[in-house]
Amino acid sequence: MIKVAKRALVPPFIVMDVMREAAALEAAGRSIIHLEVGQPSTGIPQAAAKQVARIVGGDDPLGYTLASGLPALRSRIARHYRDMYGADVAAERIFVTTGSSGGFVLAFLSAFEAGDRVALAAPGYPAYRHILTSLGVVAELIEVDAAARYQPTVAHLKKLPRLPEGLIVGSPANPTGSVILPDAFRELAAFCDTNGIRLISDEIYHGITFGVTATTAAGVSDTAIVVNSFSKYFSMTGWRLGWLVVPEDLKRPLECLAQNLFIAPPAISQHAGIAVFDCRAELEANVARYARNREVLLRRLPESGFTHFAPADGAFYIYADISGFGEDAAAFCKRMLNEAGVATTPGTDFDPFHGHHFVRFSFAGSTADMEEACTRLVNWRAQG
Ligand SMILES: Cc1ncc(COP(=O)(O)O)c(C=O)c1O
Repeated sequence: MIKVAKRALVPPFIVMDVMREAAALEAAGRSIIHLEVGQPSTGIPQAAAKQVARIVGGDDPLGYTLASGLPALRSRIARHYRDMYGADVAAERIFVTTGSSGGFVLAFLSAFEAGDRVALAAPGYPAYRHILTSLGVVAELIEVDAAARYQPTVAHLKKLPRLPEGLIVGSPANPTGSVILPDAFRELAAFCDTNGIRLISDEIYHGITFGVTATTAAGVSDTAIVVNSFSKYFSMTGWRLGWLVVPEDLKRPLECLAQNLFIAPPAISQHAGIAVFDCRAELEANVARYARNREVLLRRLPESGFTHFAPADGAFYIYADISGFGEDAAAFCKRMLNEAGVATTPGTDFDPFHGHHFVRFSFAGSTADMEEACTRLVNWRAQG
């Protein structure tokens, strides 16, 4: 038998399976409200779309760019750090990537050897641990709960059998929406720095916060790798564009890896990326809609018995504890989809320990959909 590499045997993304089931029900004529998908329902802002159309109609051959990205985009991202955080980040430290997903591969390859240990929170974004595993890096899951605001702390790191080579944090986090507060973030970054732990900070949900401040690792650490993306705040999911802020010692290794693995990120998306920074009004209108959606869910989900939520400080998710319902999350979500016509994601996608007690609601869709989902859930629960 010809072998299949063990590294390829990573678990599936359960949310994708939910999406497939929801699509099958829709094809059979059912109406489904989609609270499972973690992506904006809006597209690229109008002005950026027009700029893209001009470039496609022009004489730019849109060939390979530098592996690190178009200089104009790197400068624009560097300016974003000054404008948004007052942080001075040199454009030479910005690496444009194929989504943050491409950024993770480059970041992990440049920072970790096979066999290294990288700590990360459970619940957390599943691809972190699956990409690490496929690269032969050991994902050391830290169980976090409501008491720790669902985020890893210095105390958690100190309790590990030995300190890891790396730590991944997501703030705001998927699936909980929890943000690491500024003092705790600085403490974590300083601890990592002093103890030779490479901090990887996933900042993909920056820009989508509700009354709290999300700290960028670029402002508090010279050794951390920042991962960011145009997929969420910038509403450009399918354009597959992201970026890294890279510490000095990893600049050249990362450039060589990027040249060999990807050659360059998509050229047209990079042009769109430059234009989208000037579309603040449209982007902020999206965030205002997320804020309304969040308010609807937090107010109305308790009507159908959902009462315990992780702090939904940012991103577009509500992570609800369903242990009171006495049913496993996978079965519960399946019934909710089939009987109520509301698609959600079971916590098992994010947390192998306690995920069966949780469900993730995404509020990236329309406010009308949030209201309709809540009404359906009330009726569903009333039917037993
Ligand atoms: C926390 C987090 N990081 C990274 C990603 C990957 O996003 P992309 O590759 O589109 O930038 C996602 C997507 O849902 C996410 O939720």
